Amino acid sequence: MSSRRLQQIIPAVATSDGAGVNLRRSLGRAPEARLDPFLMLDEFSSDDPDDYIAGFPSHPHRGFETVTYMLDGHMLHQDHLGNRGNLLPGGAQWMTAGRGIIHSEMPQQERGRMRGFQLWINLPAAEKMKPASYCDIRPDEIPTVALAGGGEVRVIAGQIDVGADEVAGPVRGITTEPLYMDVRLPEGGSFSHPVATGHSAFVYAYEGSLAIGEEADARRLPAQSAGVLGGDGPVAIRAAGGPARFLLLAARPLHEPIAHYGPFVMNTREEIEQAVGDYRNDRLT
Ligand code: CO
Repeated sequence: MSSRRLQQIIPAVATSDGAGVNLRRSLGRAPEARLDPFLMLDEFSSDDPDDYIAGFPSHPHRGFETVTYMLDGHMLHQDHLGNRGNLLPGGAQWMTAGRGIIHSEMPQQERGRMRGFQLWINLPAAEKMKPASYCDIRPDEIPTVALAGGGEVRVIAGQIDVGADEVAGPVRGITTEPLYMDVRLPEGGSFSHPVATGHSAFVYAYEGSLAIGEEADARRLPAQSAGVLGGDGPVAIRAAGGPARFLLLAARPLHEPIAHYGPFVMNTREEIEQAVGDYRNDRLT
């Protein structure tokens, strides 16, 4: 089967969220820039504390999952369930908002680099009102696999074949069966990986640019851009030019209507009104 082709490029745009955190949003920058079941991908990356120090004070979510993956820096997650999670370089947190969670994510540093990603993955209608849950993933719980031609892959969700063995990421049991990998390639390095038939897939280049697809008709994906992949085969990616780093994400689409308002993602307008009302009346969770 021929590999997936780069179908659409969504350049990240500068925006601000939380109490004034400057970040770059690719997926989710507009309603048409989603990829079912992925709703949004933000990259935060700065050496300037003014860009991140305000953090994300207490706020709610309902109806989807948020995944935070840190490359540099230190943040503290706290939520209404009593969870306290230290987000350290190379670590992640997988939070299922379900019917409701109220949490904060605050920087635990006043200088230095803060860098990472927040991804929003939709929940199917049948799970939007399930109880919230939270999973703190330490850096050493994320397996790192060396690639034969140089470079490495960190497996946050999904699995990769290593010889006769399979190495699986720490996140399991999610209905949309997400694949979440962080890949580092040397100059001229390449990576290919199978993606389940029918699953959506995209790549986010965060250092260096990539060539995606078969050698003969590969298309270039510049840094700080999400590349939506078309077709149904595996992915084939090369570092185009210098070394490169990127995220590979794939999951089973839900094919359900989306009603999105701020921190709530439901199926209908009425469910959004219910969420807003529940939050106002202290009944979200
Ligand atoms: Co949040």
